[in-house]
Amino acid sequence: MNDADAQKRAAGEAAAALVQSGMVVGLGTGSTAAWFVKALAARKLDIIGVPTSQATADLATSLGIRIGELGETRAIDLTVDGADEVGPGLSLIKGGGAALLREKLVWEASKSCVVIADAAKQVKTLGKFPLPIEVVAFGHKTTALRICDALAECDIGIAPALRRKDGEPVRTDGGNLIYDAHCGRIEEPAVLAAALKSVTGVVDHGLFLDLADRALIGTPDGVIELE
Ligand code: 5RP
Repeated sequence: MNDADAQKRAAGEAAAALVQSGMVVGLGTGSTAAWFVKALAARKLDIIGVPTSQATADLATSLGIRIGELGETRAIDLTVDGADEVGPGLSLIKGGGAALLREKLVWEASKSCVVIADAAKQVKTLGKFPLPIEVVAFGHKTTALRICDALAECDIGIAPALRRKDGEPVRTDGGNLIYDAHCGRIEEPAVLAAALKSVTGVVDHGLFLDLADRALIGTPDGVIELE
């Protein structure tokens, strides 16, 4: 296990310790969230997990966690999920794993959200990690041009790139496409978030603002908490 993996694991295990029997728990997506799911399963608590992706649903089920769908369980008490960047005020970029829409739906339905990450994810300014933007497939090239305009309004003069894997466009669990915007620096995340949401065809974006209540960051010296 490399350093980043060890830090992700430590953060995931620290978050699993926050869960109590009887809770409905949002289960994030990605390698850090997978450590959380594994540590949670090992505790053998009486909980219901609400997964944020098919991959997480498969993992949780394979480990014996009872799962439920968003809206079909009691209110979600706590969601634990990873992030691609953790910025000032627990502003986040998410969506590196193409699960941002289901993640945001689950986060917004949760009483409390904890982000878990390795130390390299903590940044002073969001934007070095390309911002994922989920768009409907119909007319996506036109939507991408309109995303350019929205970025330009925010003084970000770049064109987003369609995410591909093995040469093929990546499809989300919902069948949508992902464009990645290499913003560099996002000086005003809330302004950019609003501009992107105003584009017809954009389903959502990876800026998670005012959603995380706490962060557990794995560092070489142990897990630190940010609020
Ligand atoms: C998936 C996500 C992930 O939480 C994010 O990409 C972090 O992944 P990892 O824990 O593997 O570094 O937002 O859509």
